[in-house]
Amino acid sequence: MSKSAENALLTAEALAARIHAVAGTEPVGTALILGSGLGGLVEQVAGVHIPYDELPGFPHAGVSGHSPKLGIGLLGGTRVAVLGGREHYYERGNPAAMRLPLETLKALGVTRLILTNAAGSMQPDMPPGSLMLLSDHINFSGLNPLIGEKTEARFVPMTEAHSPALRAALRAAAGAEQIALHEGVYAWYSGPSFETPAEIRAIRILGADAVGMSTVPEVILARFLGLEVAAISVITNMAAGLSDERISHEHTKAMAPLGAVKLARVLTRFLTP
Ligand code: HPA
Repeated sequence: MSKSAENALLTAEALAARIHAVAGTEPVGTALILGSGLGGLVEQVAGVHIPYDELPGFPHAGVSGHSPKLGIGLLGGTRVAVLGGREHYYERGNPAAMRLPLETLKALGVTRLILTNAAGSMQPDMPPGSLMLLSDHINFSGLNPLIGEKTEARFVPMTEAHSPALRAALRAAAGAEQIALHEGVYAWYSGPSFETPAEIRAIRILGADAVGMSTVPEVILARFLGLEVAAISVITNMAAGLSDERISHEHTKAMAPLGAVKLARVLTRFLTP
């Protein structure tokens, strides 16, 4: 069998077995997925780092600013799995692109998932460099990673999708680090083009506080898989039309480190027993 045919047959269990062979079989309870410009935290995992290209079905290294590797080991004293980057819907048009990686995390024993992303702000008091804990989200894209799923499990309840218990723990971690953690609603826009000012005005009226191109499909998949999930945005810019600054992916990557340092402290404290 050719290597690609062999790879195409891998299930989450087979991927977990590959990861176990490198990282050991000690269970991993908590996982992090790092967003654009935020991937550096994966290097702080004391353990093993497995490049995504050794894990068929894990994201392509398609977006600059991501670290395409899986770190398994200790962070803040807790054994974690950290994905240094994700695949976005806009890369290949697949809203379920992160399904196999999340199923693999579940097969490793993960029950708690923290997602991070870079986002544009629609709140004047939440400038670039701010952190926002997602209280909820709006699926502005209309896409869904569970379309085509055959089982009844596809009817996932999304009330309190963003875990109140995890959110409380993240709030406490930010408080202990004396880092301001805003809370608000995140709207998923498909990308890869940024929003128009009129779209931002519309999303604001709908009740969103921040906008980005990821996270929502992963929250839906996490709830489908029975994982507890919460998410934090690092604000890299004011959304389109709300400032004179030109929005670009370069700008996102340049601004992400501002919030990434604070995010790393909050997450490390959250993981400290
Ligand atoms: N819009 C969408 N995605 C983003 C933005 C934005 O303004 N900033 C960072 N990611």
